Amino acid sequence: MSQTTQPDPAKLAASKAAVALVEDGMRLGLGTGSTANVMVQELARRIQAEGLKLRCAATSQATADLAESLGIKIETLDEIGWLDLTIDGADEIDPDLHLIKGGGGAHLREKIVAAASDRMVVIADPNKVVDQLGAFPLPVEVLQFGFETTRKLIRRALDRLDLGQIDVLQRLKGSDPWVTDEGNWILDLHMGIIPDPVALARALSAIPGVVEHGLFLGMCSKAIIGKPDGTVVEL
Ligand code: 5RP
Repeated sequence: MSQTTQPDPAKLAASKAAVALVEDGMRLGLGTGSTANVMVQELARRIQAEGLKLRCAATSQATADLAESLGIKIETLDEIGWLDLTIDGADEIDPDLHLIKGGGGAHLREKIVAAASDRMVVIADPNKVVDQLGAFPLPVEVLQFGFETTRKLIRRALDRLDLGQIDVLQRLKGSDPWVTDEGNWILDLHMGIIPDPVALARALSAIPGVVEHGLFLGMCSKAIIGKPDGTVVEL
């Protein structure tokens, strides 16, 4: 998003509400994606207006670049050590606050940062709220080594879970493989519905070439859903 474009009102409302949770001295994780970008801009405004002293780690190079362009210093997660709060977007949010993430291909770093945070607050517009996860294709970051073998192993795991016919498609950028910040490739699993996210997460994590999947189970403490009229609902 260019800095002169008006942000989507729902994303702006959620971002403002999440940034209002930030207190002076906090150690923050900054998420990735178009909603997180709005949040980073709001955070930069608060830092400038109030002179907040924060320590920030980014979940992607894109977020680090945006934050630094707005005057927010980015440190590595290891330099900071532990985070008070991570604010990130999501592709789907279910009633248990289980998430699908990785639409922007950053779910590996996002999960590491969220796991190193006391709280993960998710910001989203109402389209992201679902009764059951799975309509959004589930991103799985996979090593380039043995990529096709890993794809076969994923298909076998899905068959064992008796989930029916599922397309397991490589994410592309143009005609080239999409490459993550960690140099890996992504498979998108077109699940439709995920009846048992815990069983699927366990099965995917057990496959050696899988680096990380986009199911975030039990990691989100609160979701702030912004509405087009500028109000928010908390889940
Ligand atoms: C990136 C993510 C994003 O948070 C997710 O894709 C939501 O992005 P957006 O706010 O642009 O809809 O998980 O890996």
